[in-house]
Amino acid sequence: METLTGMKRTHHCGELRTADVGAEVVLAGWVSRRRDHGGLIFVDMRDRSGLVQIVFDESAMAEGTFHKAESLRSEFVIGVRGKVRARSEETVNPKMDTGEIEVVCNELRILNTSKTPPFYIQDGVKVDEMTRLKYRYLDLRRPELQKCIQLRHKVTMLMRKYFDEHGFLEIETPMLCKSTPEGARDFLVPSRLNPGEFYALPQSPQIFKQLLQVAGMEKYFQIARCFRDEDLRADRQPEFTQLDVEMSFVDEKDIQTLLEGLIKELFEKLLGREVQIPMRRMTWDEAMRRFGSDKPDLRFGMELQDISEYVKGSDFKVFNSVLEHGGQVKVINVEGYADIPRRELDGLVEWVKNYGAKGLAWIQYAGDDFDSIKSPFKKFYDAETFQKIKEATGAKTGDLLLVIADKPLVVAQALGQLRLEMGRRRGLIDPDKLEFLWIVDFPMFEYSEEEKRWKAMHHPFTAPRDEDIPYLMSDPGRVKAKAYDMVLNGVEIGGGSLRIYNRELQLKVFEALGLSDEVAKERFGFMMRAFEYGTPPHGGIAFGLDRLIMLMAKRPSIRDVIAFPKTQSASDVMSEAPSPVDPKQLRDLYIRTTVKSKEEKEQENK
Ligand code: AMO
Ligand code: AMP
Repeated sequence: METLTGMKRTHHCGELRTADVGAEVVLAGWVSRRRDHGGLIFVDMRDRSGLVQIVFDESAMAEGTFHKAESLRSEFVIGVRGKVRARSEETVNPKMDTGEIEVVCNELRILNTSKTPPFYIQDGVKVDEMTRLKYRYLDLRRPELQKCIQLRHKVTMLMRKYFDEHGFLEIETPMLCKSTPEGARDFLVPSRLNPGEFYALPQSPQIFKQLLQVAGMEKYFQIARCFRDEDLRADRQPEFTQLDVEMSFVDEKDIQTLLEGLIKELFEKLLGREVQIPMRRMTWDEAMRRFGSDKPDLRFGMELQDISEYVKGSDFKVFNSVLEHGGQVKVINVEGYADIPRRELDGLVEWVKNYGAKGLAWIQYAGDDFDSIKSPFKKFYDAETFQKIKEATGAKTGDLLLVIADKPLVVAQALGQLRLEMGRRRGLIDPDKLEFLWIVDFPMFEYSEEEKRWKAMHHPFTAPRDEDIPYLMSDPGRVKAKAYDMVLNGVEIGGGSLRIYNRELQLKVFEALGLSDEVAKERFGFMMRAFEYGTPPHGGIAFGLDRLIMLMAKRPSIRDVIAFPKTQSASDVMSEAPSPVDPKQLRDLYIRTTVKSKEEKEQENK
């Protein structure tokens, strides 16, 4: 193997342009591709900045050097000294940033060899994600992922600068914390020095950032790692990063304006995209009513519309029983799709069941007259009703209404999802649009059927609206919170609230959540104690950094913008974490698992 001694890199591969023609350059990087044309060898050489074509010409170089070039394989690490020259017109490659030039090599050093990689290191590879994750260091060499990681760096640099300029302090908070109830499930860490006791990894720095306000820091931010033991999805990871912010003596508008300014700068400076501020606001009630979601994708219409008043009081049992039990019948209009194939309709009926709906009906306004209307509930209504529904929903001949009847939250969930699905299927979602909005006036609580109790919709430190405080115990469902989320293209990218800063009110909210005085004292005592010493009014927000960058980079998953992400089952297939540990480690921690070891299982099977 050779070294780079005496060969100092002068340029990056992807930077070379026509202006560099004639320059003597030294490059270092990887062999992306080698093409052999007899006496001529072309190598696409790659470093972090991109690709450039290197030419090895047998007639113009030392014999040994050309032989070396013949031995090059994908992913060998090389150093190249050569001269930049313009490509002839026929050989210009407009797809490459460096496509107008090439580098004619006169010295080659092979710095390292490589096994044949398990997949091509290039953009758009169709490789199973498990393989990509197992060889993540190779996956990350691909230009599109390099760009994601570089963008991520630029985003966090800009954030730090922005908050510094606005008088914020970046303060780190602990990773080993106290486990507190509410929120997602904790990741626990056993304490060796305190047998039988556990730390929790932070789900967010929430309590600490509030305590920093009690501590008089006034303006805090942190780019913080958070850990949540949840079921994973494309936009959820067990460990993820938040841009976390907290401020004293502010109202909702101050916080929202600050974050709008940041988002505007990020999109304009890093992507050259304009962002209109102030962003629009929509109440939670309105978002649920019109889009069936608290994170509506406003890039297309197809809003949910209520047709309950037109279909009530008929002989159709399905709608009647729903309406008699406080439910509703709502529709979306899939424009111009009255001729939807029956097969697709049947598929949708099954599809909506995944989102809790018990069924799905439809009206196909195939023609102008009653005869041409197709609907599973046609026989229960007259022509006039179908005409009224058509007018009320703004449907036209040729349109398809999809109908769901159920309890309001089920209708919102199922029809909201169906709206997104039909938007995708009908190609209505413009990937180049940016639709930002704030969702405001969230309910303070949501009822958990599973636990038969009220839970905090945001978190238990969120302040209720002043006028709703009297209903905390008597009618929790009507209490609205001083909470807000920022949504971009149907993704919740950030959420925050003004906080409770009064000890009595905080205890009352704990009570409304069914936390007894004792539990509240035991779990949140340190916070309640702090609240006895002059807590300033304060509030804040946290942005999902991974989600924001995913959207900025237009990637389908946050895994693409995290250097070493976990799989759907929360494992790292590269290092094989999690994994069993040495029994001695467990003994040191006073821990015994109830899961049988491999040896024990084998023993049993004998
Ligand atoms: P919240 O729980 O809404 O608020 O989280 C803030 C933002 O973090 C992102 N996010 C996630 N991203 C990836 N994977 C996950 N598992 C995940 N969970 C959340 C979302 C979300 O909007 N302490 C409060 C904030 C505050 O009140 O200031 C909090 O954590 O984009
Ligand atoms: P069923 O009585 O369950 O056979 O339902 C008769 C028709 O009512 C079905 O073909 C569906 O089109 C429709 N339907 C059933 N449940 C619902 C629902 N929850 N929402 C909308 N339509 C429904």
